[in-house]
Amino acid sequence: MDKWKRTNYCADVSETDIDCEVIVCGFAHKVRNIGNLLFVDLRDRTGILQLTFDESTPNDTFKKAETVRAEFVLMAKGVVKKRVAINQEMKTGTVEVFVMELKILSQANTPPFEIKDAVKARDELRFKYRYLDLRRPEIMSGLVFRSEVAFFARSYFREHGFLEIETPMLIKSTPEGARDYLVPSRAHLGCFFALPQSPQLYKQLLMVAGFDRYVQIVRCFRDEDLRADRQPEFTQIDLEMSFVDEDDVMAINEGFVAQLFERIMGTKLEMPFLKMTHKEALERFGLDKPDTRFGLELVDLTDGLKDTKFEVFAAAIRAGGSVRAINVNGGANLLSRKEIDKLAEVAKTYKAKGLAYTRLCDGNAVSSYEKFLSDDERQYIRSRVGATDGDVILIVADTNSKIVFDALGNLRTALAGKLDLLTNDFNFLWITDFPLFEFDEEAQRLVAVHHPFTSPKQEDIKFLTTNPLLVRARAYDLVLNGVEIGGGSIRISDHSLQQQVFSLLDLTEEEAQAKFGFLLDAFEFGVPPHGGFAYGLDRLVMLLLRRVSIRDVIAFPKQQNSRELMSLCPSEVDKKSLDDLQISVVPANTEPGERQ
Ligand code: AMO
Ligand code: AMP
Repeated sequence: MDKWKRTNYCADVSETDIDCEVIVCGFAHKVRNIGNLLFVDLRDRTGILQLTFDESTPNDTFKKAETVRAEFVLMAKGVVKKRVAINQEMKTGTVEVFVMELKILSQANTPPFEIKDAVKARDELRFKYRYLDLRRPEIMSGLVFRSEVAFFARSYFREHGFLEIETPMLIKSTPEGARDYLVPSRAHLGCFFALPQSPQLYKQLLMVAGFDRYVQIVRCFRDEDLRADRQPEFTQIDLEMSFVDEDDVMAINEGFVAQLFERIMGTKLEMPFLKMTHKEALERFGLDKPDTRFGLELVDLTDGLKDTKFEVFAAAIRAGGSVRAINVNGGANLLSRKEIDKLAEVAKTYKAKGLAYTRLCDGNAVSSYEKFLSDDERQYIRSRVGATDGDVILIVADTNSKIVFDALGNLRTALAGKLDLLTNDFNFLWITDFPLFEFDEEAQRLVAVHHPFTSPKQEDIKFLTTNPLLVRARAYDLVLNGVEIGGGSIRISDHSLQQQVFSLLDLTEEEAQAKFGFLLDAFEFGVPPHGGFAYGLDRLVMLLLRRVSIRDVIAFPKQQNSRELMSLCPSEVDKKSLDDLQISVVPANTEPGERQ
């Protein structure tokens, strides 16, 4: 048989090809056989094209077509004709190909689920046969879009003078807050590499080396619990710049997002993005990554309730905590007592001890706390939050304001879902002025809010010795619709300041030297001031496509417990591999004390 070459992708065949011969390839999406008329919807990455077989089809071709089943891989040669029964739903709905010759390139078993959007298959099945799941147009189009974003990122940063430089995957562990994935070394028995949680130190060293502007689309690994927007391996668009301050880094990134929207999304964003300090974000929204598409802002009631006799509120205020509220405008209709009880459960998952409420309905107030308050206090709350008939007031009090913010902030997000307040807008927001440190109750020591290489603000350096919790960082996060899509900072580029920060993080000079000696040494050889940023590419793509999980925009994601259900990894390895590494595995049910 003569050698065939594809002439067109399926969805590229159009009325301009009428009466032309085409060769198309793809999967049999659907087969309809109505006696002497047979249709095969042929699907490739671009879409679907109807292949038609009728009396005019050569006999052997027709016979071959009759054997075609769903997902067979085909190559067809035929002539494009205008369709009589036009299908408005399809891009190629006005044409069809009358097939003269057909090749069946591969037969296929019946797939375990139908290859179509909105498929009802269980997740386990979809991910076990991920290569079939990927054939579904909604999943495939997500990855096609992701590819567009990645190519655009490369060209944008290249145009702005960035160099793409790869950093190693086998490194010494960098502290970014999560657990490392470790890789044992055969050449150095008992020693381990870590997979990078990010290229943080290497990109800083590239600045020390003088590359000036670096970008990399890079895989990062963090051994943390999986969530809708978290995978153990994920991708960053990672960048670093020399001789810059916060505004320069933000401007480059605003340009990137603005152009991404214009070129890839086909819409214009309002520029520049809103900026909000970390403190304002907490006070107004309870979270450091607020969704600003809706109101339901927090109101501080602490001042007006200082003298209250209601012990729940009084105890919180006495201990230096706070009492804050959300007024759910028109909430009485939507939030029954039962619904409010459910909200209280949500608040409790964020460590709130309770949720006080008032439901104002038809001139009556049903409240869990008003009976404990004076008339003035009751009035104060209602007017301070601006409540009128039909509203619901929700209050959290705690001795620790962090709990109040966290509980109300997350309640606010839950309410927006319940009240259908989530619009299709894309609200970008910079959060600035993060604290440099926070106190880790469990470890009973200071930890870095971003990472230990983030520079303090010049005017706050004086607090490093007096009250480090007051020190603000030169850090910035980019938030889109309540999701942190990126973060970065201006770095410390001074040996002694870096040493001081390490010691506040409880790292002795020796420990710091052992862990980051190479960075500290580098700082002794001339360091351009530098700063950078990293996007979570998976999250960005997920949000732009309005998907609910980053799994939907990753070709082969991990599932529950960080397993991959297709290849079934992680898995045990053979004894020889372990022996080479001199590693012995203790059976999982052995008590720690019994381990040798
Ligand atoms: P950070 O830790 O904030 O910063 O990471 C940058 C962005 O990566 C995304 N991200 C994740 N996405 C999916 N799954 C995960 N497990 C995950 N963890 C993080 C988030 C986040 O905003 N080196 C610094 C950046 C810098 O300072 O330049 C860093 O890694 O969208
Ligand atoms: P109690 O006197 O403990 O029954 O509390 C009266 C109301 O206050 C109940 O509705 C509780 O849910 C609510 N409540 C209890 N603790 C808190 C808290 N920390 N913040 C807000 N409301 C609370």
